Amino acid sequence: MQKVKIELGVNSYDIYVGSGLLPLAGLRLKELGFIGRAVIITDTNVKKHYAGIMEDGLTSAGYDVEILEIPPGEQNKTLKTAARLYDELSRINTERITPVLALGGGVTGDLAGFVAATYMRGVPYIQAPTTLLAMTDSSIGGKTAVDLGRLKNIIGAFYQPKLVVADINTLKTLPAAELANGMAEVIKHAAIMDKEFFVYLESNMDKVLALDADVMEYVIARNVRIKAGVVSKDEKETGLREILNYGHTVGHAVEVVSNFKLKHGQAVAIGMAAEAKISRRLGMLSAKDADRLGKLIIRAGLPARIPDFDVKKIMQAMTHDKKVRHGRLNFALLKSLGEAFITNDVDAAFVEEVISGGE
Ligand SMILES: NC(=O)c1ccc[n+]([C@@H]2O[C@H](COP(=O)([O-])OP(=O)(O)OC[C@H]3O[C@@H](n4cnc5c(N)ncnc54)[C@H](O)[C@@H]3O)[C@@H](O)[C@H]2O)c1
Ligand SMILES: [Zn+2]
Repeated sequence: MQKVKIELGVNSYDIYVGSGLLPLAGLRLKELGFIGRAVIITDTNVKKHYAGIMEDGLTSAGYDVEILEIPPGEQNKTLKTAARLYDELSRINTERITPVLALGGGVTGDLAGFVAATYMRGVPYIQAPTTLLAMTDSSIGGKTAVDLGRLKNIIGAFYQPKLVVADINTLKTLPAAELANGMAEVIKHAAIMDKEFFVYLESNMDKVLALDADVMEYVIARNVRIKAGVVSKDEKETGLREILNYGHTVGHAVEVVSNFKLKHGQAVAIGMAAEAKISRRLGMLSAKDADRLGKLIIRAGLPARIPDFDVKKIMQAMTHDKKVRHGRLNFALLKSLGEAFITNDVDAAFVEEVISGGE
């Protein structure tokens, strides 16, 4: 097991990563001084596998447990589902000291986190992420949100959990496509911040995909440290944290143009490959490094080429995006593997040429 402390002053908390941690969540809660009630919010898929395990651990630690179930999927990350959860929390007489535990992927974490942030102006919130994406990305950083129609994450709050428990055993039931989805952000973290970790992933990708317990614990904990390091320096996303947008300027546009048929991780993978090319064409990244990145993306089971979409539509989606300032495109790009920089001065016509296939 590894424990990573997220340093955010009074909002600091620990992230535990390891095998078999779910049954022990109750003990962790006790260490934090919580007593009485505990509410688990989980989706139908995750509930089937893991709610009982978590409930048993909490009950043995002396908690009186309530389980609130939500339907799975991004389409349920809405104010409507949040409103239903508020009703249920009030029906079971949740108090201000009652911890809410989000057991599931990023959808459950974002939604339960938003509900915890707003119910009674904030009840304690604990995350038990069960997807690779949630373990390595969405559970770190304190962003919670729901969607409003097609506007993703538009209603939300910065709200830090009291504790994160990432039990890697839960990944065993995760569909392969969801594992690959999470790998996109893992590769991103290595590419922007950590060359040594990038090399590690090159050597160990097969073990990652086979969910080797030691390798997964190492990969997730190292990721957590990378993202946490960025977030601790920039909690409210005003500067440095923008390097986490690597792959997301083109990626998000491609995701929109695909009408969200591409998963976020697939879109980010395509975006990373495209933005590596932009970095290379700007004379920053070497051709060899861009190639290594492309190969790693493909080995993770992700796409590295822009599908046959209308480039004009991609450009349109990109310029509608918030990553545009003063008519120039804002990008996080690579100087080399392991080193990113932020620029708000990339010419749109140049980007269009590069993503149209120009060498
Ligand atoms: N807050 C942030 O900083 C942040 C960062 C990145 C992404 N996100 C959000 O995260 C969400 C995506 O998260 P996700 O990819 O985890 O999706 P998800 O929560 O929808 O989970 C994916 C699917 O896997 C199922 N599932 C989850 N864990 C499982 C397990 N262990 N075994 C079997 N099935 C399991 C879920 O029921 C769901 O069907 C998006 O809404 C995105 O906006 C938030
Ligand atoms: Zn992302």
